[in-house]
Amino acid sequence: MTKLIINGAKGRMGQTLLSCAARIPELQIVAATDVGDDLSGPLAQCDAVIDFTLHHVTADVATLCARHGKALVIGTTGHSEAEKAVIRAAAATIPMVWATNFSTGVNTLFWLTRKAAEILGPSFDLEVVEMHHRLKKDAPSGTATTLLEILADVRKLQLEEALRHGRKGITGERTSEEIGIHALRGGDVVGDHTVIFAANGERVELTHKASSRETFANGALRAAQWVVGRAPGIYDMQAVLGLK
Ligand SMILES: NC(=O)c1ccc[n+]([C@@H]2O[C@H](COP(=O)([O-])OP(=O)(O)OC[C@H]3O[C@@H](n4cnc5c(N)ncnc54)[C@H](O)[C@@H]3O)[C@@H](O)[C@H]2O)c1
Repeated sequence: MTKLIINGAKGRMGQTLLSCAARIPELQIVAATDVGDDLSGPLAQCDAVIDFTLHHVTADVATLCARHGKALVIGTTGHSEAEKAVIRAAAATIPMVWATNFSTGVNTLFWLTRKAAEILGPSFDLEVVEMHHRLKKDAPSGTATTLLEILADVRKLQLEEALRHGRKGITGERTSEEIGIHALRGGDVVGDHTVIFAANGERVELTHKASSRETFANGALRAAQWVVGRAPGIYDMQAVLGLK
């Protein structure tokens, strides 16, 4: 039995995590916390915390988990570099699964994107398009950022220099050293991502569309069961799925 705390329990993902966890007999929810609740109170009773909150919340959660020796699953996205540094420091003490996307399909997309970029090579221009619901607070999405990091890594580009966030005005011709990212927002879209590889005469597009948050929730719950008892450090969903 794995004992969990869901932090951000009143949110879209928090609610989905609670309903999915209720269907898994090997899981017990010992607390469902949200803004204003004292996470340190129930912490002693759990094996792991799952955090789907806001970017500025996770660093304190990670520090608290490290102090109490509790495993952590981070689904929250949009962290600043300073926040990421605090989270990484906590991982010296506890095991974490930190993933911008917990769905099996998107982790397959991550794998395919690397392969396609390696096979297609530098003559293909790279663009990423993502769309999410109108209430999403960060852009581009954490998943799109992971896709961009994979593309930059394969092409040996510095991501911050290569990125073009949308385009406007007299931009000049596109160079092969740039990677475009376009964030669309509207309606109730759970999460769409397309990676475009465009060359003269042909184009490859890899697309993933999530139609239910349950795919993220079930992945995060699987990650929580997997991470308890592991050595300290940061693991991603590909490790949980046994893809590496
Ligand atoms: N990794 C993934 O697979 C994945 C999938 C979907 C969403 N996300 C990310 O998860 C996060 C949450 O998404 P959402 O759609 O559920 O957002 P949401 O706004 O519906 O929920 C966030 C919740 O966090 C709560 N919160 C705010 N401050 C808090 C605090 N100090 N302590 C505890 N709770 C606090 C809010 O009250 C709210 O209930 C976002 O960063 C989103 O990008 C990740």
